Amino acid sequence: MHSFLALIFCALLAFAGAQPSPVVPKGFVTQRNGEFRLNGKPFNFVGANSYWVPLLTKKEDVHATFREMQGAGIKVLRTWGFNAINGSELALARETDLTYYQVWNSTEWVINDGPQGLQRLDYVIKTAGLYGIKVILAFTNNWVGYGGSELYVNWIAGAGSTHDVFFSDPRIIASYQRYVTVIVNRYKNSPNIFAWELMNEARCLGDLPAGPNCVAGTNLLSHWYKQQSDYVRSLDSYHMITTGGEGHFYWPDKNVGFWHNGVFISDYNFNGQAGEDFDADLQLENIDFGTYHIYPQYWYTLLDTPSSTNFTIKDWGLSWIQDHADSAKKANKPVILEEFGVSGLQNKTEIYPEWVGLALKTRHAGIMPWQFGMTGLKEDNRVFKYADYIIDGASPNDGFAIYKNQTAVWNIFA
Ligand SMILES: *[C@@H]1O[C@H](CO)[C@@H](O)[C@H](O)[C@H]1NC(C)=O
Ligand SMILES: *[C@@H]1O[C@H](CO)[C@@H](O)[C@H](O)[C@H]1NC(C)=O
Ligand SMILES: *[C@@H]1O[C@H](CO)[C@@H](O)[C@H](O)[C@H]1NC(C)=O
Ligand SMILES: *[C@@H]1O[C@H](CO)[C@@H](O)[C@H](O)[C@H]1NC(C)=O
Ligand SMILES: *[C@@H]1O[C@H](CO)[C@@H](O)[C@H](O)[C@H]1NC(C)=O
Repeated sequence: MHSFLALIFCALLAFAGAQPSPVVPKGFVTQRNGEFRLNGKPFNFVGANSYWVPLLTKKEDVHATFREMQGAGIKVLRTWGFNAINGSELALARETDLTYYQVWNSTEWVINDGPQGLQRLDYVIKTAGLYGIKVILAFTNNWVGYGGSELYVNWIAGAGSTHDVFFSDPRIIASYQRYVTVIVNRYKNSPNIFAWELMNEARCLGDLPAGPNCVAGTNLLSHWYKQQSDYVRSLDSYHMITTGGEGHFYWPDKNVGFWHNGVFISDYNFNGQAGEDFDADLQLENIDFGTYHIYPQYWYTLLDTPSSTNFTIKDWGLSWIQDHADSAKKANKPVILEEFGVSGLQNKTEIYPEWVGLALKTRHAGIMPWQFGMTGLKEDNRVFKYADYIIDGASPNDGFAIYKNQTAVWNIFA
């Protein structure tokens, strides 16, 4: 090669190497300099959390749900990319037409890619695109709901194991990655995927307790996030990847806590005890954006009495929002307020506008209340699992659902 041309060629290569992200296929969302981009333009969104969409059995209900979301201006749906059952639940699952993707009968689960399995998820992801909606898909759950990490722990590590072995046992990691491979390979060419999410609300403890390998300072979750995000990136060069975490900080020097009946209680949201280190996790190369959740009424039950302190759930949420915005700014990555909820309609109408207002002011790229509620479903009385059901055509309500008829709350987001 002519040396001058070679020089230009090398310069071009060096330039290409310095680009933060490869040229992505059309319709894929990327992140750069703290914001999302779609087809060359900034992309910000109000989103919906609705884990139950893939549990719907009627295609017309899937369409009606996306149509309602579209009408409310929603651009991103976050839902579960997992639904796992024990073999002992199989007969009932078939009888009740429960959606399930994984069946555990031994240390090796079996995939269900049939019409009652992944074909339902296929339909949801395909239909989302028809309504201009993209999907955040979580690979597993920290909690037992719909068959999360606890099934891996129970079946592979065995009875008596602690929850945190999910993040360290190489057999469990291999099994999780086998599932991740199935899901990622199935949808990796789809522009309807917004991002992959490693786990819903990863913590040292789950419904099982935490063990000594996952306490403040061990960084077990950070290592796991790095290993899994690198793994997903090796399968899929283009889609964004995020943690799905609640956004706990590890600020050992700040000694954040509160007084309760004269006793100082160190706060697990800031002391690393929960397992995450939001600042460090967001710096990981293949974590594209930050996620966090807000449920002060449930995280501070000790404080939920009028007399105890100067603490209010509204103010606590505001400072949590500011903390995550500051951290995201340092990392130069987008952050989304991925889940939040308070009980009671009046609490919602009073508190959500203030939280949303600050999130907008601090340049959050996405806001996703927990959870989007749908009415008028054709399938009108149906128990999914646990205490979850469609009743009179309304999607499940855990006290946080927002239906269209609740106009004061609905309009905050629509
Ligand atoms: C599933 O099986 C595991 C292992 O036997 C057991 O620990 C767990 O309780 C079962 N879960 C359900 C929901 O049946
Ligand atoms: C799992 O076990 C159940 C009975 O517990 C059985 O009916 C089913 O066929 C088994 N499924 C697989 C995939 O092995
Ligand atoms: C509440 O009071 C404590 C100590 O009395 C103080 O450190 C803290 O900053 C106060 N919080 C708010 C939100 O005012
Ligand atoms: C509203 O929030 C307050 C403070 O957490 C709580 O005591 C109250 O029960 C909530 N109202 C409803 C209806 O849930
Ligand atoms: C709105 O719809 C939900 C779900 O059907 C229902 O539970 C609730 O009572 C309705 N609220 C109003 C104000 O009509």
